[in-house]
Amino acid sequence: MFDFDEVIDRRGTHSQKWDGMGRYGVPTDTGIPLWVADMDFRAAPPINDALQRMVDHGVHGYYGNDTTFRAAMVAWMKRRHDWDIDPEWALQTHGLVNALAMIIQSCSAPGDGVIVFSPVYHAFARIIDANDRQLVESSLVIRDNRFHMDLGSLESTLTGRERLLFLCSPHNPGGRIWDVDELRALADLCERHDIILVSDEVHHDLVMPGHKHHITAKVAPEIADRLITLVATSKTFNIAGIETGSILIANPELRKQVAKARAAMSISNNRFGMIMAEAAYEAGDEWLDALLPYLDANRRLFAGSIAAIPGLSMMDLEATYLAWVDFAGTGMTREAFTARLCQAGLAPSEGHSFGPEGELCMRFNLACRHALLAEAMERLSGAFSDLQ
Ligand SMILES: Cc1ncc(COP(=O)(O)O)c(C=O)c1O
Repeated sequence: MFDFDEVIDRRGTHSQKWDGMGRYGVPTDTGIPLWVADMDFRAAPPINDALQRMVDHGVHGYYGNDTTFRAAMVAWMKRRHDWDIDPEWALQTHGLVNALAMIIQSCSAPGDGVIVFSPVYHAFARIIDANDRQLVESSLVIRDNRFHMDLGSLESTLTGRERLLFLCSPHNPGGRIWDVDELRALADLCERHDIILVSDEVHHDLVMPGHKHHITAKVAPEIADRLITLVATSKTFNIAGIETGSILIANPELRKQVAKARAAMSISNNRFGMIMAEAAYEAGDEWLDALLPYLDANRRLFAGSIAAIPGLSMMDLEATYLAWVDFAGTGMTREAFTARLCQAGLAPSEGHSFGPEGELCMRFNLACRHALLAEAMERLSGAFSDLQ
């Protein structure tokens, strides 16, 4: 019904992923991009149909009433996550990194600490630094091939100047789904230290078969007053270019505080983003339900290939399409294995950009056609064939 195997040439389309891989020294005409977190698939038909209706209408003025968007989002959260949200909770943003900037500016002062669990999505550190806040990195610990938070160690280093904690849930990179107990323990820590918990759940629809995501707001309702949840259609439906997301805040005072920063930056709703996101929330289920098994098949193909290369190991992917591969077992330096990947025309994301713990790791984006991933895997095993 949906052809995820369709060959769509994204070169020369202002695609960051396809047209920008030259930054790794990988040629854009023959390279395979496995970095930027978007997918190579055509968006779900209801989204493109909504866009087509806009084109047919032909007038693209300011976007007004967002009631139908809010209703579609509320219904999605209920239908997909059994989560009751109030339409009043939402503040629209120009993407979720924009949301993080707004939250930093409204809920902390320059010099205050913002905690992240490292390695983590690199824009967290970038936006904290850009706003002159103190980046507080709490290293994730690896046990049983999974990331774990070390809350004891984090707590022992707190100074009292930490105002915010950015949680990536599910976690990028590595695709870890946090357990209910872990989320509760984290909520408890935030409560005891008067920290606002920001749960970035942009990947929460991209869950591998057999796994279940836990919405922080549902498992830790006791911290509703200090909880901010970030959601979007951008990753789920491969429409990241719309740069549109939502901040959900149940506490009206806290919402007012963040809304003030939104107003100060003059953020208003983007017509294309709002209409495409509404269509996704309204009618994207079938496409998403078909996508997830396709991604899961890619996950299995990838995991099998990695397991066959001595020295490489991969974290089990429970959610997201962003696999975390450790090259430490090769005994090579970062420069040495990166040069081999580049020589093979492969462009994954460099692990160290997610934090110092990622020095000997790479993040691979698996959201492409099976055939392209298979070719990438052939190149990868060829690049390390001397180890086999
Ligand atoms: C955890 C997380 N948050 C936010 C984003 C990006 O959000 P946006 O493009 O809406 O700014 C990403 C992109 O990969 C991500 O992984």
